[in-house]
Amino acid sequence: MRIFLKVWRQSGPRAAGELVDYTVEHVSPDMSFLEMLDVVNEGLIAAGRDPIAFDSDCREGICGACGFLVNGVPHGPDPGTTVCQLHMRRFKDNDRLVLEPWRAKAFPLVKDLVVDRSALDRIVQAGGYTSVNVGGAPDGNAILIPGPVVEQAMDSAACIGCGACVAACKNASAVLFTSSKISHLALLPQGQVERGRRAIAMVDRHDTEGFGSCSNEGECEAVCPKEISIDNIARMNREYFRAVLAR
Ligand code: SF4
Ligand code: FES
Repeated sequence: MRIFLKVWRQSGPRAAGELVDYTVEHVSPDMSFLEMLDVVNEGLIAAGRDPIAFDSDCREGICGACGFLVNGVPHGPDPGTTVCQLHMRRFKDNDRLVLEPWRAKAFPLVKDLVVDRSALDRIVQAGGYTSVNVGGAPDGNAILIPGPVVEQAMDSAACIGCGACVAACKNASAVLFTSSKISHLALLPQGQVERGRRAIAMVDRHDTEGFGSCSNEGECEAVCPKEISIDNIARMNREYFRAVLAR
């Protein structure tokens, strides 16, 4: 296949950016999207030009490192799929694709398609953990948890912190991310001791980082590669109000 790319190129946070055209020949349908970009970069390096900067690590849809907009859609057109798991067979010969970085105030641009998502790490640092001393590893069946509760908690825990929900939201809100982390621990017995303090600290950190508020559009859920439900946002709001009223 031949693919026409328009890629956002910006050499640094304060440099001017622009969309640059690339024509990619001989694209195999079996290539992943990032392998196609690897081939583009090999050509740029061979020509003595600056390769396109983009993030990736596992390339298996589990680490959350990858992510950019493909024709305006975070992670591209396949639902429930990270851009590293997107394959070129999804596209047609002579397709035109525009690649842009996540755009949000809380995600400052580093270079080209790479943004700094450490604001999400700081939300987790604010309370996304248990700090109770539980001694040695307990027996697996020592704390009995109903199956449906485990399923709900694990569904929430599936968030990989990619930031696509922020990129899709017109308010650049990170509440789908924050609520999945709060829900995961609020649902489990191990998370009860710090439950209220955690909800307040993580929501406050979310706001301090400059993410916007939720207006219930559902765009975040639609693009989330892990199909995190917006039910988590309703739970986060309940957790937050309960904690505020109790203090
Ligand atoms: S909620 Fe989904 S889109 Fe948002 S950071 Fe987690 S995995 Fe990515
Ligand atoms: S590179 Fe790890 S999820 Fe895409």
